[in-house]
Amino acid sequence: MPLIQETDYGTPIRVADHTVTLTIDGQAVAVPKGTSVMAAAMTLGTKVPRLCATDSLEPFGSCRLCLVQIEGRRGFPASCTTPAEAGMVVHTQNEAIAKRRRGVMELYISDHPLDCLTCSANGDCELQDMAGAVGLREVRYGQEGANHLDAPKDESNPYFTFEASKCIACSRCIRACEEVQGTFALTMEGRGFGSKVSPGGTDFMNSECVSCGACVQACPTATLNEKSVVALGTPEHSVVTTCAYCGVGCSFKAEMKGDRLVRMVPHKDGKANEGHSCVKGRFAFGYATHKDRITRPMIRARITDPWREVSWEQAVSHAASELRRIQAEYGPDAIGGITSSRCTNEETFLVQKMIRGAFGNNNVDTCARVCHSPTGYGLKTTLGTSAGTQDFASVADSDVILVIGANPTDGHPVFASRMKRRLREGARLIVADPRRIDLVRTPHVQADHHLQLLPGTNVALVNAMAHVVVTEGLVAEDYVRARCDLAEFESWARFIAQERNSPEAAEPVTGVPAQAVREAARLYATGGAAAIYYGLGVTEHSQGSTTVMAMANLAMATGNIGRPGAGVNPLRGQNNVQGACDMGSFPHEFSGYRHVSDDATREMFEAIWGVPLSAEPGLRIPNMLDEAVGGRFKGLFVQGEDIAQSDPDTKHVTAGLAAMECVIVQDLFLNETAKYAHVFLPGSSFLEKDGTFTNAERRINRVRRVMAPLGGLADWEGVMALSNALGFPMAYRHPGEVMDEIAQLTPTFAGVSYARLEEVGSLQWPCNEDAPLGTPMMHVDRFVRGKGRFMITEFVPTDERTGVNFPLILTTGRILSQYNVGAQTRRTENSRWHAEDVLEIHPFDAELRGIREGELVSLESRSGDIALRARISERMQPGVVYTTFHHASTGANVITTDYSDWATNCPEYKVTAVQVRRTNRPSAWQEDFAEGEATMKRVARLDVPAAE
Ligand code: SF4
Ligand code: SF4
Ligand code: SF4
Ligand code: FES
Repeated sequence: MPLIQETDYGTPIRVADHTVTLTIDGQAVAVPKGTSVMAAAMTLGTKVPRLCATDSLEPFGSCRLCLVQIEGRRGFPASCTTPAEAGMVVHTQNEAIAKRRRGVMELYISDHPLDCLTCSANGDCELQDMAGAVGLREVRYGQEGANHLDAPKDESNPYFTFEASKCIACSRCIRACEEVQGTFALTMEGRGFGSKVSPGGTDFMNSECVSCGACVQACPTATLNEKSVVALGTPEHSVVTTCAYCGVGCSFKAEMKGDRLVRMVPHKDGKANEGHSCVKGRFAFGYATHKDRITRPMIRARITDPWREVSWEQAVSHAASELRRIQAEYGPDAIGGITSSRCTNEETFLVQKMIRGAFGNNNVDTCARVCHSPTGYGLKTTLGTSAGTQDFASVADSDVILVIGANPTDGHPVFASRMKRRLREGARLIVADPRRIDLVRTPHVQADHHLQLLPGTNVALVNAMAHVVVTEGLVAEDYVRARCDLAEFESWARFIAQERNSPEAAEPVTGVPAQAVREAARLYATGGAAAIYYGLGVTEHSQGSTTVMAMANLAMATGNIGRPGAGVNPLRGQNNVQGACDMGSFPHEFSGYRHVSDDATREMFEAIWGVPLSAEPGLRIPNMLDEAVGGRFKGLFVQGEDIAQSDPDTKHVTAGLAAMECVIVQDLFLNETAKYAHVFLPGSSFLEKDGTFTNAERRINRVRRVMAPLGGLADWEGVMALSNALGFPMAYRHPGEVMDEIAQLTPTFAGVSYARLEEVGSLQWPCNEDAPLGTPMMHVDRFVRGKGRFMITEFVPTDERTGVNFPLILTTGRILSQYNVGAQTRRTENSRWHAEDVLEIHPFDAELRGIREGELVSLESRSGDIALRARISERMQPGVVYTTFHHASTGANVITTDYSDWATNCPEYKVTAVQVRRTNRPSAWQEDFAEGEATMKRVARLDVPAAE
């Protein structure tokens, strides 16, 4: 596909109830009121020359290149800052205008290096384009006078350069950082001729910049330019695809030169991101071609043996015969598999199909088990569907935003930028988090309330807020009467009104002052449209499902579901967590969340798949591991998931894996789980395959193949090969055919097809006959389950307790530059921002233990111990410490426990009782890990000729 160029209207196209009609160069045009003359002209296809304007930013009016003449008005107004008015008669081109524009351009060019032919932006530079557009043929002023041509170059950022000599001081970068990203990292220093863009600090790397790329995107010259473009040249063709990182699901144009990916440019038509990006999706794609990629299938008899490279055919036939041997020896239920939230819907669907159809059991689970399974349970129970209620755009209508157990600026940065924009416009903010996350106070945003609760007390806090709503007469009674089950509401209201659920009773448990809870609850209930956004700080608890239901109760009681700006919205971790769950990855559910014991559903699948299916729910991941340790579970297929690093209680996980006789790993890299594998199948990155991802707002976005799979087969083709070797035939020619089968078998996907996605870009499920264009907002007139269901949400403290030996609580989370277990981001320059996991500790706790900044400390729990460096931080509250889990060598999950959510087994990552002490050496586990790594590197691979 040729390079995709989106239309830039110069200024934002407004949304308004009224239109105005004006005449531009003799043509009448009607535009929404408030639209600029420049954008109105663009709707007619007339591009008024411009430099400081672009339609992702508010008009600024500094370059004076866009001047026009308007009949009846004096002078030459700037078309970018002049709103279109009814009856206006505009001329965009005549000799007087042209002369003035040439004069403006002449001044710019006289202070610009004349190295167009060797400039990295040659052919992709708006300054160059505008010189041509205004007909500039000569520059009367020389470059001998004062100029900026020797201005220094800042190359500190690993991904982009700042070449100040090329800057035209248009401020687009500064405004992008403010308006689009909301970081306010850049300023214009000095005045007049001395004006220069500054990132503050010494350079970009040492500034507030978060490398989102918005300024690079906005820059009309080569001043801010991607280093990959500088190195490889301007791209030639592009493919629109979806980011492979977080659940925001940003759309990107993968811009290529030949078969090399030059850059990822956020796609303006992408509805999840509308042209914005974060450092991961925008820049951290180098892992896809990293030298560590394993591109040949490998097998070995024992996990202590060296790997042997074989053909795909040999690998899958070996894997299939091992799985069948195990079933013959230990029974049909002795094998199972794990699907991945990093793989496409189609791949996930095929893995669960292979397990149910070829393995002959329901032993399939997914990494969502360890993150958002409580969301599925909690929202389905109360509202009737296992997904968030709103689209991302809805936040623009929120008056009050409650962020609980989520850190959007790090975990879901592009959505965080939308949210911050709304907060800057005046929406009120309540943050409930044990840690002072950035949102609590960030430029031009300050939370009204930071409810700094103790980890593990979410239920008590949300119940206390609901108590205030019920006891202070703040219930939306008409809404509840019309839309919810009244008997259940009344029983819940009696429960929640009890004194033990009051903010005062909760205060000693949560640590949050009762008055703050009361004020926050009143704000939530009475401040207008109120939205809840939450993350793993809600779900990864022994009461994760209870908190989700408590939030749904609170939202229903205040009438905050089914209208714009409101809702209960999970911020999903991995890009396709929603999709992996939708596609039937849980052991008890087919796609579309239908129970395997439901005869009619099962019969429908049996008819299409042509095999009998089990009505018995299968094993969850923790049960598979328990059974393995017990000697009853012997074979596992794991696609795109590293349970040995990501799942809790590492020692138990590795003991389970080590006890198995055939572990098959399909992945990009030899990850921690692969250390216990007998068969390794090369995985394919998101750039190497077609498919779809479903983001946190239920939006199904296309993933498009940009380059051929390095391992020869895309993941879905590898699964087909294994299924065929197992005697369960699959013969899809393209993932689009898999989607057709998904649509045939899944009512909420009935209207989804690749053809429809091509037509409309993306679709939010449910998409079917009733909603052919999808469903941006759910539960509008009625809840999916009929009547909204209030659930009793008793607070039951976790069994994990602090005490004399383990007096602190450890909670875990993510950082912006790294992603999950770090397998991808650690293999990119993103590691410059986070080269190791550190332990954040409050100054009080540090001082008590004699710990200084940067010192190595031992972090010990009842499960194990690790060592990492201390970062003394007032983000923490005394008694609570925090770390990330992005580096395998840290082993953060060596110390997490095996406590889990009562309903879904989602691990309680967020609460571990620990002790912290100074140390001078790594832990025994870390020493073993380092030794294992060294051994792995030493063991040479024994290559044998492939049979293919
Ligand atoms: S990369 Fe993003 S955060 Fe950094 S200066 Fe540019 S717009 Fe601001
Ligand atoms: S760096 Fe680029 S966007 Fe920023 S002021 Fe200079 S030319 Fe304009
Ligand atoms: S916000 Fe998420 S989906 Fe968007 S670019 Fe960043 S990591 Fe990718
Ligand atoms: S584009 Fe209008 S003043 Fe610069």
